[in-house]
Amino acid sequence: MTTNSNQVRIFDTTLRDGEQSPGASMTLEEKLQIAEILDEMGVDIIEAGFPIASNGDFEAVSEIARNSKNSVIAGLARAIHADIDRCGDAVTHAKHGRIHTFVSTSPIHLKYQMNKTQEQVLEIVTDTVTRARNLIDDVEWSAMDATRTPLDYLCRCVEEAIRCGATTINLPDTVGYATPDEYKKMFEDIIERVPNSDQAIFSVHTHNDLGLAVANSLAGVAGGARQIECAVNGLGERAGNASLEEIVMAIRTRSDALPYTCQVDPKFLMRASKLVSGASGFAVQYNKAIVGKNAFAHESGIHQDGMLKNAETYEIMRPEDVGVKATSLVMGKHSGRHAFKDKLRELGYDLGDNALQEAFRRFKDLADRKKHVYDEDIEALVEDEIAIAGENTKVIALTVIAGTGGPQKAILTMDVNGKHETREATGDGPVDATFNAIKAICPHEATLQLYQVHAVTEGTDAQAEVSVRLEANGRISTGKGADTDTLVASARAYVSAMNKLALRQQGSNPGALQAV
Ligand code: KIV
Ligand code: ZN
Repeated sequence: MTTNSNQVRIFDTTLRDGEQSPGASMTLEEKLQIAEILDEMGVDIIEAGFPIASNGDFEAVSEIARNSKNSVIAGLARAIHADIDRCGDAVTHAKHGRIHTFVSTSPIHLKYQMNKTQEQVLEIVTDTVTRARNLIDDVEWSAMDATRTPLDYLCRCVEEAIRCGATTINLPDTVGYATPDEYKKMFEDIIERVPNSDQAIFSVHTHNDLGLAVANSLAGVAGGARQIECAVNGLGERAGNASLEEIVMAIRTRSDALPYTCQVDPKFLMRASKLVSGASGFAVQYNKAIVGKNAFAHESGIHQDGMLKNAETYEIMRPEDVGVKATSLVMGKHSGRHAFKDKLRELGYDLGDNALQEAFRRFKDLADRKKHVYDEDIEALVEDEIAIAGENTKVIALTVIAGTGGPQKAILTMDVNGKHETREATGDGPVDATFNAIKAICPHEATLQLYQVHAVTEGTDAQAEVSVRLEANGRISTGKGADTDTLVASARAYVSAMNKLALRQQGSNPGALQAV
């Protein structure tokens, strides 16, 4: 099973390892949207969460399991009966569910984290894999910190996990320490030495602490692994996991050197990246491979000259292969509702009547203010509209007095449960004044963790896309807002984050945030 096929399974852990990274937590709605696109793009296994972690995680894994069409839906479980049982319950409605259970195997983890001997951990492997296998046919077992585990002991653990019914064996480089050669050799050695290794699929799971995650994953595959655990935009603990889009495109682009196949359709990569970036609030760096804003941009004269003569002079992949559309001028202020609706459909949006009407109104408004309206502008506007649709607390109007010689002042009107409330507030700068005005209308304890602005397109009339992350009682939420006015976009992003936080804290309607 390990080496007789060159098909590599893509196991996406954006919603588990990715969501676990500080500040990246997502709402149920966001997780469902991400799972939907992963399923559609051909990801083999979606690790949807850690069901025992919270009721929210359990609900997310169960919902994703119910909705999945093609992908296997996995949940994570520590080597504890309660975790495994809860995970089994969460994935039970999937067409094809998986329990992924793990235990640490390295001496440093055994001594300081678990306070257990190697023999005791081996017993845990026997007990927990057997328990999982009694609940479901598809069981993955991971040896946490495998790359710092003595090979002899790792072999014993792997053999035991397979004997007890594990169908996938994952050997993570948990701390991102391995080099490609070492990682490849570990798989070769284990597969050769473990007598029943042919009864399981081996899996790589790499972290990017030394920037080697993708190289290590591909090296593990060269060593015999046939499953790659990775995350969209490389999201994950600390420096992140191997990036899904880089893995997929490396395999496709260099099939001469990497003779493997994977079934992910790369045309979805850009959309998935944007979705994950929006939900997590983690902006994609401009020079990020495959999905960065500059990944296909050619600035230098020599490069541009070459590109005009033959794109292959400097381009090893075509932008359209990964779902990047050439920046296109879409429409102007004379474009009608029909053309706007067609454009939305082309961009992959199908809005309900009310949202469409509001998006069209905002598009007209934007076209009045902005000389050129691009696809990216429409996308930012529609994403903003989708984010606020159904929210009971909204920004209606904002006037800010700014400049030298503060304090700066904001006069804000918001709709709170259908009632318009207006307040004035001052602050240390216009953004601070705006956020203070929001707090005056909706008093709350949340603290600002992140405030980020980026321009959607070029030029001083570009729309600003703002991300705001708030934290209250250990819970985090991220909101986004877009507008040609950076302060309006900031207010929208703040209110969106505040609404999500209210939903999370109260499990109820954001209208629970009362106007004073
Ligand atoms: O990095 C790691 O070891 C993990 C395991 C839980 C698979 O994420
Ligand atoms: Zn991990």
